[in-house]
Amino acid sequence: MNDYTITRLAGSLGAEIHGMSLARADATEAKVIKALLHEHQVLFFPQQFLSTEAHVTLGSHFGPLDAHPNLRNPFTDHPNIFELAASHGGLADEWHSDISFSANPSVMSILNMIECPEVGGDTLWTSAYAAYESLSAPLQELCAGLTALHDASPHGMPELTTIHPVVRIHPETGRAALFVNEHFTRRIVEMSHEESEMLLRYLFQWIARPRFTVRYRWQNGTIAMWDNRCTQHFVLSDFSEQRIIQRVTVMGDQPTGLQPPRWQPFVRGETVGATSRYDRQLNAHLGIEIKTLDSNRKDDKPDGP
Ligand SMILES: [Fe+2]
Repeated sequence: MNDYTITRLAGSLGAEIHGMSLARADATEAKVIKALLHEHQVLFFPQQFLSTEAHVTLGSHFGPLDAHPNLRNPFTDHPNIFELAASHGGLADEWHSDISFSANPSVMSILNMIECPEVGGDTLWTSAYAAYESLSAPLQELCAGLTALHDASPHGMPELTTIHPVVRIHPETGRAALFVNEHFTRRIVEMSHEESEMLLRYLFQWIARPRFTVRYRWQNGTIAMWDNRCTQHFVLSDFSEQRIIQRVTVMGDQPTGLQPPRWQPFVRGETVGATSRYDRQLNAHLGIEIKTLDSNRKDDKPDGP
């Protein structure tokens, strides 16, 4: 392996690696990269210009890859490549961890910057370790006993839901990380809708605090790799030129909570009012049927007395 250098980019996460050729990376090099990823959470390798095949081969050193047999990419039809061209929409300008609506969300993502705008379109990552570790002890303890419902509504599929721990333990580093994100997380399972809103709003703005983040300015040919188990990311929608990325996604992990859930899911009692609409998605996921009074179903009645 060539000599390489590591330049850290921010206090909480992120490092740029120079002097490593990813086109020739084998299993031994993948092991080194994995260790670097565990330490820095997101890595950047400028000037790589990998072919589609080399990109997929690189990803396959880290585990099984997500396949999109029916996905219609704008420019590439490889089943393991997820392509985003900003001119075709779908920019992820909300904080998220990739595919967290899945029961087995992605382990890591490897992004190839094919074409970036001259200015704008930077990506930010945040450390979900740092965000969790910086919470007060009482809030850490509360969050560690909770689970949350995620859905795929940003992809037009709100019926695709799953439940994950709010604080997950990284299986390889043993560190705890916050695992709720504004893009895919809808509801704390064990809390009422109102309480869930309050806590999630707080956690979403907390995890986005600048001191937990790194902001990266792209160049064509840069490869970025990030650990989805302990980071979230956000794309800045501040550009007007074309921006094309290709992503390979490594799968095969099921989140484990720092603790098992400490409470039962929140279920309303017999009294079913208008606010029960907020519980519908959670009830549907849990298979709970709530009886609605006939009088609540009549549309011709004005609200309330
Ligand atoms: Fe993403």
